[in-house]
Amino acid sequence: MKNYERYLKTTAEEYDKETIMSFLCRRLPDRKIVPILQEMGGKKVLDVGLGTGHYTRIFLTENNVTGIDRNPHLCKLPVKVYQGGATEISRLAGAKKFDGVVSTWMTEYLSPDELGIFFVESKKALKAGGKLITTVISGYGLGFMYVTMAKMLRGIDKYGYTKKEITEKLRAAEFTEIKIINLNSWVGIPLAYLVIAKN
Ligand SMILES: C[S@@+](CC[C@H](N)C(=O)[O-])C[C@H]1O[C@@H](n2cnc3c(N)ncnc32)[C@H](O)[C@@H]1O
Repeated sequence: MKNYERYLKTTAEEYDKETIMSFLCRRLPDRKIVPILQEMGGKKVLDVGLGTGHYTRIFLTENNVTGIDRNPHLCKLPVKVYQGGATEISRLAGAKKFDGVVSTWMTEYLSPDELGIFFVESKKALKAGGKLITTVISGYGLGFMYVTMAKMLRGIDKYGYTKKEITEKLRAAEFTEIKIINLNSWVGIPLAYLVIAKN
């Protein structure tokens, strides 16, 4: 199955049900993700792959968030959501500029080429001094297992990346200030990274 298509028939209620994977992905990493996202409160944010808006709620105020998602039907929040992909930000959002481009648990659906384009498109959409804040599944440890199991058990293509690969792609997109924070699971096994890159 081609990644995001699996959400086409999923309702927002079904999507928000707690599963072992959502527990693993959210509980511990959220201790690092949530405070960073709280800093975006009230700022002009583009949320790419916002799903039902689980994290969007953290920084949503009146009219400050725009979304992009392959499956916009999932989002019931008062947010304008463009239907489309992470590689098409400039086509969808036009000349709008944002203080932040946020994307949580979406980049796992992006192939290496697509991840590079997503970074380039995010940079173009940011105001000077704006930040790209995104999670990326780790190419090692639990991240590697997560990606492998998705393919083996459910036939879904997912991707994990090393810190070196992420940094190279961000540099190629001309981001200069790059911070990569480990989002480990229990017992310290790498699961994902929280990437913050300043324009
Ligand atoms: C695992 S969900 C994460 C949703 C939300 N960000 C969160 O953390 O709860 C992934 C979301 O990304 C969307 N998505 C997948 N591939 C995408 C792509 N290439 N471009 C934009 N959205 C995509 C899916 O439709 C889904 O809503």
